[in-house]
Amino acid sequence: MEKNNTAPIGVFDSGVGGLTVAREIMRQLPEENVVYFGDTARVPYGSKSKNNIIRFSRQIIHFLRTKKVKAIVIACNTASALALDTVQKEFDIPIIGVIIPGARAAVSETRNGKIGVLGTEATIKSETYTKVIRSLKADAEVVGKPCPLFVPLVEEGFAKHRITEEVIDIYLADMKKTDIDTMILGCTHYPLLRSRIMEYFGEKVHIVNPAYETAMDLKAILKERNIANHSGEPGTYDFYVSDAAEKFTRFADSILPYDVTKTKQINIEEY
Ligand code: DGL
Repeated sequence: MEKNNTAPIGVFDSGVGGLTVAREIMRQLPEENVVYFGDTARVPYGSKSKNNIIRFSRQIIHFLRTKKVKAIVIACNTASALALDTVQKEFDIPIIGVIIPGARAAVSETRNGKIGVLGTEATIKSETYTKVIRSLKADAEVVGKPCPLFVPLVEEGFAKHRITEEVIDIYLADMKKTDIDTMILGCTHYPLLRSRIMEYFGEKVHIVNPAYETAMDLKAILKERNIANHSGEPGTYDFYVSDAAEKFTRFADSILPYDVTKTKQINIEEY
């Protein structure tokens, strides 16, 4: 029996970066309605403790549940690394993160078993990518590197600026000397630097954006549970943030292939 099918998908991130994942969900599942929440008042998560990241994730899931979501995608790598296991046990709807799909894509791509992971301090320190990669390929070698400055560079619109080229070189020169053949962009903002990072490494390194595989996983879960939306209508999208709604709207409008005209601000601490 079909139920719940037109209910939206909840997607959340610490801020604007998760729009790279939402964009992929909208592309692969065009009939699904999406409610996106960006925790712009408390970003960045990458420098926060596990306890706080779990607390923030719980509050956001409580908020998304008020929108009657049928499934949740944690688009934030940091929250996926530190909070996914906990919240999956606490809530009774499907919740997926970006790390398992990203790790799986990298393992299927690598030829020599040497995989680089770029992420926030918290994501790299948690070693979640390393653990998941090794659970899929026990002899994989994983080289992780936190690149915290990439986040403000993207948010300031500096993706194509020469300063970004320099920061890429500072962070990634050591990794360039290794013989990794696959690299995971393990932070929501980094896909917006994808072409710069690809240029830097050249063709020998395959770049993985977990967003693509995450949207595929979501599609499979909706199908398996018989809750996919087959309305024949294009999905509707609602955006919520905890602060700076106008700035968010401008950013969303610039990276999504749709007009984003409105973002609502809520007090996430109430949830
Ligand atoms: N969304 C975060 C992630 O993917 C990056 C920004 C932050 O530090 O909150 O890890």
